[in-house]
Amino acid sequence: MTTNQAQIDYWNGPTGEKWARHQRETDRNLAEAADAALRLANAMPGERVLDIGCGAGVTSLLLGDAVGPAGHVVGVDVSQPMLALARSRANATNVEFIEADATLYPFKPEFDLIFSRFGVMFFVDPAAAFANIRMGAAKGGRLAFVCWRAVEENEWVSLPYRAAKPLLPEQKPIHPHAPGPFAFADPDRLRSILTNAGFSGIGIEKYDGQMDLGSSPESASFQVTELMGPTARALRGVDDATRAKAQEAVIKALADFQTGTENIRLGIACWLVSARS
Ligand SMILES: C[S@@+](CC[C@H](N)C(=O)[O-])C[C@H]1O[C@@H](n2cnc3c(N)ncnc32)[C@H](O)[C@@H]1O
Repeated sequence: MTTNQAQIDYWNGPTGEKWARHQRETDRNLAEAADAALRLANAMPGERVLDIGCGAGVTSLLLGDAVGPAGHVVGVDVSQPMLALARSRANATNVEFIEADATLYPFKPEFDLIFSRFGVMFFVDPAAAFANIRMGAAKGGRLAFVCWRAVEENEWVSLPYRAAKPLLPEQKPIHPHAPGPFAFADPDRLRSILTNAGFSGIGIEKYDGQMDLGSSPESASFQVTELMGPTARALRGVDDATRAKAQEAVIKALADFQTGTENIRLGIACWLVSARS
């Protein structure tokens, strides 16, 4: 039993299975954030890259394309269903996937770049996790990842939550630093975690973009009430009638965001984080 066991169970349970089943949609939802993080990372041919919390592997595969046959990418994750999909998608020999807790895995100092798209906010002890991850950096190796800013700044979260709130069961307050998607919303805390873990030259820049939630209010509602974010979490375990009513309310709210034949897009607010090992 590691201290991250609750998250390991979570990503191996229904949520990990759902992410694997609906990864095509999740990849579309998070594509703009992926592009921004990959631009920041600027992986070069021949580089060795570590992708932390790689999930179903789309960014590992994109990094594999960037580093080419002379480079190498290792994706690390704790979720068996997501890793199974990642392995089935990988047709290049320069990308491999390891099932491991990034807090504990004995990394060797071999990576020029340590990357993550939304895969580093789930550690019980983030300073220990990042200190361990830093062990994977080769001399002069760099860190580049994208994580979420505060809930209130993220329209893709706040809009559906506001619409569903009157129908949701009372929610226990969550500590703002608890492992979870918004654990790094506070940039001062994030900077101090990375500094304590031994990183230097830390950059934390705002990125505001959009999440493409697909072509219909119904499919967009599925993303934010079943798959990703606090509304999905709040609806876990509720009865079918309540779920249906909450989803109806979210569908109504999302319909206002559809213009012509365009997909529905909501705002995302992220940190683009860079550092040197
Ligand atoms: C929000 S998902 C992001 C997945 C992927 N990077 C993407 O963008 O599609 C978070 C990922 O972090 C992984 N994760 C959580 N805790 C972890 C840990 N201690 N070590 C490695 N991966 C972890 C989860 O299994 C999950 O795949």
